[in-house]
Amino acid sequence: METQTRVIGHRTPRVDGEYKLTGKADYTVDWQAEAMLYGYPVPASIAHGNLVALHLEEALAMPGVVEIFYDGNFPELSRSPNSMAHQDQVSEVRLPFEDSRIHYAGQYVALVVAESFEQARAAAQAVRAEYRQDAGAIGSLLDSEADGQPLEAKRQVRGDADGAFEQAPVKLDQTYSIAAESHMQMEPHATLAEWRDNRLIVHESTQGVIYQQKAMARVFGLAEEDVEVISHYIGSGFGNKLFMWPHAVATVAAARELGRPVKTVLPRQQDMTCGGNRPASRQRLRLAADEQGKLLSIHHDSATETSLVHTFVDAIGSVSPSLYACDNVAISQHLLEVNHGTPCPMRGPGETSGIFALECAMDELAIALNMDPLELRRRHDSRDDPAKGLPWSSKHLDACYDSAARRFGWARRDPVVGSMTEGDEILGWGMATSSWFAGRQPCAARVELRADGSIMAACGTQDIGTGTYTVIAQTVAELTGVAIEHIEVRLGESSLPAGPLSGGSMATATTLPAVAKAVRAAIDELKEVATAENGAFAGADPETLTLEDGALLDEQGKRASFSEILTDHKLGSVNGDGDTAPGDERKQYSFRSFGAHFVEVRWDPGISRIRVARVVSSFDIGRAINPATARNQVEGSIVMGIGMGLLEKLEYDPRDARLINNNYSDYIVTCHADMPEIDVELLDNPDYAFNEFGARGVGEIGLTGVAPAIANAVHHATGKRIRDLPITIDKLL
Ligand code: MOS
Repeated sequence: METQTRVIGHRTPRVDGEYKLTGKADYTVDWQAEAMLYGYPVPASIAHGNLVALHLEEALAMPGVVEIFYDGNFPELSRSPNSMAHQDQVSEVRLPFEDSRIHYAGQYVALVVAESFEQARAAAQAVRAEYRQDAGAIGSLLDSEADGQPLEAKRQVRGDADGAFEQAPVKLDQTYSIAAESHMQMEPHATLAEWRDNRLIVHESTQGVIYQQKAMARVFGLAEEDVEVISHYIGSGFGNKLFMWPHAVATVAAARELGRPVKTVLPRQQDMTCGGNRPASRQRLRLAADEQGKLLSIHHDSATETSLVHTFVDAIGSVSPSLYACDNVAISQHLLEVNHGTPCPMRGPGETSGIFALECAMDELAIALNMDPLELRRRHDSRDDPAKGLPWSSKHLDACYDSAARRFGWARRDPVVGSMTEGDEILGWGMATSSWFAGRQPCAARVELRADGSIMAACGTQDIGTGTYTVIAQTVAELTGVAIEHIEVRLGESSLPAGPLSGGSMATATTLPAVAKAVRAAIDELKEVATAENGAFAGADPETLTLEDGALLDEQGKRASFSEILTDHKLGSVNGDGDTAPGDERKQYSFRSFGAHFVEVRWDPGISRIRVARVVSSFDIGRAINPATARNQVEGSIVMGIGMGLLEKLEYDPRDARLINNNYSDYIVTCHADMPEIDVELLDNPDYAFNEFGARGVGEIGLTGVAPAIANAVHHATGKRIRDLPITIDKLL
């Protein structure tokens, strides 16, 4: 049911904007503790072998050095059971300094703790290690012929894909690859650990305060309530801050052993080797069609990387059975253990990589059929979820295609390769479909209506820069009529009611219903107070009172504000708690967001320059709670997609599996000069089957489909079909 909203669905400036601009926002790195020490990890310089000896004498004698932890003196800890369900997942199951085995270059062999950061760093550089190097280190799946172990759990089949492919008149069989990528979030991983009596307080730049609290409790043998994890502001995460990393465990242990707070901030090199990455992938796509262009089969066989310190599965084929109407589908996945720091989720994990291969293959199939690539997709727009056999809760992909194609000018595209020119440049126009699942998690929240007329809303989730503070404030404002500047939102503390990870683009759809429930519970409480003896509405039936602009009204139109009601009763506040979880809607519908990207690239053959000149995109994400922050998310994703398409690649030395470009100057990301015109449209079709606000969430979807749209545009401009990302200039010569 459509409802009029005053705050939700409208552009509200970020409530934390002023804090960020004025430096008041307390990021982890900004925290100082009394008598604090600094940790600096020592990275292994080999990728595969054993640590034979560590020479610490010189480093220990250096100024300010307090202690050096390594496998010889590190305390015994417990491995976390590591489960998503119990919310104690860690990124690396191996504990720091667990034994002398080295599984990847950069793995910590010691942690130096000193009085200053500079002293810790200098001493870390003075630690000398001797190794026994084993042969056969694999830095990248793409350097290996092998695909690794088959993952039976990822196998999905419907219909008879093999048979359909065998008999089809038009076939495509191609292999695509994507280099491993780094998250390159601005704020590095950082931990400040402080023990007060037997309580542990950890400031951590994390996408999951509750997850880290539980993981710390397991590893250090503490009750959960004796661990507090704080993360008020985060300089983004993109998935590499979802779960706890070894630097945090080592830092907490050091603080306990030394009886002083310890802060460790990873330098960029270590952030890139020990702080997660998107795994490289190799994907074989087979598509078959009849001569009229009906898709008869999809085979999507992929291999992705995991590490020797964790089993990470990037769900790379997960969207292929759902994106298009097709009766015969077969999906498989292999997993190869490589000698680099463990991969982990990275923005749009799995689907971003999978959609690259699928959407390039669709473009190639369209060309083989002599059909417009947009038309091929339109014809296969799935009206229900073919993988689940359930209707989509709400799907407007056709409207995305229509609108983005019109704004882009797709009808003017001449399909002949290299035929569209302007000055020295050849224009390439390509498009791709975009998609990301919509999920919800259980969530609790608390709301306090205060006598001073302000409202506080609290949830044990965090704002990773996406606007969670703001959308929660908007929700409270919408439901109470209280102005946004009188609403305080508290996030980023594990002691608050348990909220979700900031991940999977699920935080908005997860937190808002819980906050709403808490608001209503607080208002019910207020009505009880107001109708009690001596209350503003003494004797009235609470049910007859209505709410308007921060006040209660009775049927006669008498009005009393929250503040008056509470003040009359000499109450400081009333509280409400809300607890929500996804429900039966998942049995009725399949929930997914969709979109389309249209990209113009320009290739200047005279100077061998390729650039993205224009991106026009439309998204069907349900309702955007805040179109300003939602658009910002998607634009950021598009910028990331340009990096994925043209620039980003973690390069591992094929001889010894060491990461070569472990810094911001050699790992190339999109910068301002690379920025095209970006025209993003968010359709407004609230998905009330998903939650009362109609929001499916937004963020990661923007990244899916960008890289294939670029690759398809590059083909249109140059005639070169580049099937491995990134499309660097050398591949076009
Ligand atoms: Mo996102 S990869 O779920 O942080």
